[in-house]
Amino acid sequence: MEKEPIFHRRDLAERLGTQLVSRVGASGMFVTAPRRTGKSTFIREDLIPLLLLEHSVEIVYADLWEDRSANPGDVIVGAIKDRLLRYDGIVMRAAKASGVDKIKVGGLEMSLDRVGFGKGETLTKALRILAQAAGKPVVMVIDEAQHSQSSEEGRQALYALKAARDALNASDGPGFRLLATGSNSDKLATLVDDKDQAFYQAPMVSLPVLGRPYLEWLRGQQLYEPKPSIESMEMAFQMCNHRPEPLNKVLSEFSLQTGIDASEIDQALQKAIVKSMARARSIFEQQINALSPLDAAVLKVMAQQGARFAPYAKHSYEAYREFINRETSETQIEINQSTVQQALERLRALQMIWRAGRGSYAIEDSQHIDWLKEIM
Ligand SMILES: Nc1ncnc2c1ncn2[C@@H]1O[C@H](COP(=O)(O)OP(=O)(O)OP(=O)(O)O)[C@@H](O)[C@H]1O
Ligand SMILES: [Mg+2]
Repeated sequence: MEKEPIFHRRDLAERLGTQLVSRVGASGMFVTAPRRTGKSTFIREDLIPLLLLEHSVEIVYADLWEDRSANPGDVIVGAIKDRLLRYDGIVMRAAKASGVDKIKVGGLEMSLDRVGFGKGETLTKALRILAQAAGKPVVMVIDEAQHSQSSEEGRQALYALKAARDALNASDGPGFRLLATGSNSDKLATLVDDKDQAFYQAPMVSLPVLGRPYLEWLRGQQLYEPKPSIESMEMAFQMCNHRPEPLNKVLSEFSLQTGIDASEIDQALQKAIVKSMARARSIFEQQINALSPLDAAVLKVMAQQGARFAPYAKHSYEAYREFINRETSETQIEINQSTVQQALERLRALQMIWRAGRGSYAIEDSQHIDWLKEIM
């Protein structure tokens, strides 16, 4: 199968890469952008290759969103172990020969099985050994880092990474950098503001959305005639909130259609995008209508209150009640800490919201916030 071509953002990767390895990046770096706008693609296709090539670092990459059922803590530990195993030859040979799972590098020894939290081998030690085996500083990249907050192990992994960061960046340490991505939300700030967090005082960088150069490249990829003008593509891209997917879908439909006149193609693109956005919105509205009155009310109040959302505050209870009364004449719906908490859990299971730390929640997709506000 042909792989989807990628538009590379080399300048951006260079700028970020340089910042990350400089002193500015020592406390970590947080790259944010709205959902589906190209964070992971940029990290995987541009930033990591550049870091490997030009900054000669060892990369540990953990994607906390890829396997949603996996515990974020395990994913982080697993990623570090995986990298250690790549040094099979150097690190493991002695260990395997003797039938034990011990790793020994330059006077440091540890058991690979016991890397984790409270299991004997700390992440600091594992990362130190990795740096030594690689002979390079280590950069840990965590994609969708906000999900670390969804489990106790995930939170512990971040504490452990903070300890590792401080130890490995000490004057005699090998050097360590932490780079994380997250979808744009004020709630990510909790990871940066809390002094116990790995990203304490880390700069938040918003990743620029794909722009005109990307669209020019994308237009060049369209191998049919007539094709939409660049201006019309820019307008369409803006309408889908700078997300490549809806635009790609419409363009690929064009490639299958014949008989569109050159004078009509721009208009056809606008129409198709409007239709596609309306469809996405109506699917979302159906989802909202299928929720129980309390769940829908909680979601709407979250959209309304934004970063200030306080699930158990009196004024929030009143707001839930108001939304419920608008939707149903049922008066038996109980609103208390336990029912609200259950509602939040159900919304989380549906992946409409995520938990950004203890008692603090945020709506997953900023597009949903806009739509919710419009239907309130
Ligand atoms: N530079 C690019 N060139 C071509 N396609 C891109 C590029 N960046 C993103 N895309 C496309 O846009 C879609 C979303 O990209 P990606 O998964 O990287 O976004 P994301 O911000 O990480 O999303 P999520 O919020 O779900 O994590 C994918 O289909 C991807 O192929
Ligand atoms: Mg992603």
